[in-house]
Amino acid sequence: MKRFENKVFVVVGGNSGIGLAAAQLAAAEGAQVVITGRDETTLQRAAEGIPQSAYYRADIADPQAMQPIADAIKQRFGRVDALFVNAGVGGFAMVDQVTPEMWDQVNDVNCKGAFFAIQAMLPLMSSDGGSIVLTGSIGATLAIPGNVSYAASKAGLRAVARILAKELLPRGIRVNMLSPGPIETPLLYRNPGMTEADAAALKEMMISNIPMGRMGASEEVAKTALFLASSDASFINGVDLAVDGGCIEL
Ligand SMILES: NC(=O)c1ccc[n+]([C@@H]2O[C@H](COP(=O)([O-])OP(=O)(O)OC[C@H]3O[C@@H](n4cnc5c(N)ncnc54)[C@H](OP(=O)(O)O)[C@@H]3O)[C@@H](O)[C@H]2O)c1
Repeated sequence: MKRFENKVFVVVGGNSGIGLAAAQLAAAEGAQVVITGRDETTLQRAAEGIPQSAYYRADIADPQAMQPIADAIKQRFGRVDALFVNAGVGGFAMVDQVTPEMWDQVNDVNCKGAFFAIQAMLPLMSSDGGSIVLTGSIGATLAIPGNVSYAASKAGLRAVARILAKELLPRGIRVNMLSPGPIETPLLYRNPGMTEADAAALKEMMISNIPMGRMGASEEVAKTALFLASSDASFINGVDLAVDGGCIEL
C-alpha cells in the first residue's frame, strides 16, 4: 500500500542520513518529495535519485531562509501534506569549553531554525490530515557529558513540538517528534572540534550503552517518520517517540 500517493512530502535536511532515507522511502510510497539542505552537491545528487522530487538550498540558521523556499513550493506543488523537520547539527564540548558562538551555532539550527522553518511552511500545510514530524534526540533527556548545547537545543525543540501540537490541532495539523538514539549517519563525523579518534571512541561508548548492542540505521528512523506523518498515525498527536534500541526505556 502506498501511503503518500498524491501527497507532497517536504524534508528539511533531506540530503543526508535520516532525512535522505525518509525522502527515498516517501517517494517509494508515492509522494512528490521536496528536500532542502545547505550542500548543493549532495542536494542535487540526492534529488537525482528520487523520482518526482525537487530540491532547494537553504541554511535554516537564517530564520528568513525558508520563506522563499515556501513560495517556490507553493508555486510548484500548491501545498504541503507532510513536513519532516529533520535538519540538525551536533556540537560536543565540555562545560568549560562551550562558547556563546558554539551555543548559538547549535541552537540556531536545531531549535530556532526548525521553528522558523515550520512557521514559513505553515500557510502551505494541508488542513486535511496535514502532519509535521520533528527530529529530536534522546540526548535531550540523557545526561551525556559534553552534550550540553545540543541537549538544550533538542529539549527546546521538544517544547516547541508540544506547543505546536496543541496550537495547530484546531487547524487539522498533527505535530509529533521522534527522538533517535545513536544512528549510523555522517553526523557523528561532523561534530566541530571532534577528531576521528574522538568520534570512534564516542561510537564505541555509545554502542556499549545501547541495549540492542548496535547503532540504528537511518532507514529505521525514517520508517518511524513516515509512520508519524501518515494517516496510520491519525490518532497520535504531541508524542515524542524514541527510536533508540531501548536506551531510554531500559
Ligand atoms: N545520527 C544520530 O546518532 C542522531 C541521534 C539523535 C538525533 N539525531 C538527529 O537526526 C537529525 C538528522 O541527522 P543525521 O544523523 O541524519 O545527520 P546528517 O547526515 O549530518 O544530516 C543532517 C541534515 O541536516 C541538514 N542541515 C544541517 N544544518 C543545516 C542548516 N543550517 N540548514 C539546513 N539544513 C541543515 C544537513 O544538510 P547539509 O548536509 O546540506 O548541511 C543534513 O541534511 C538531526 O536533527 C540530528 O540532530 C541524529
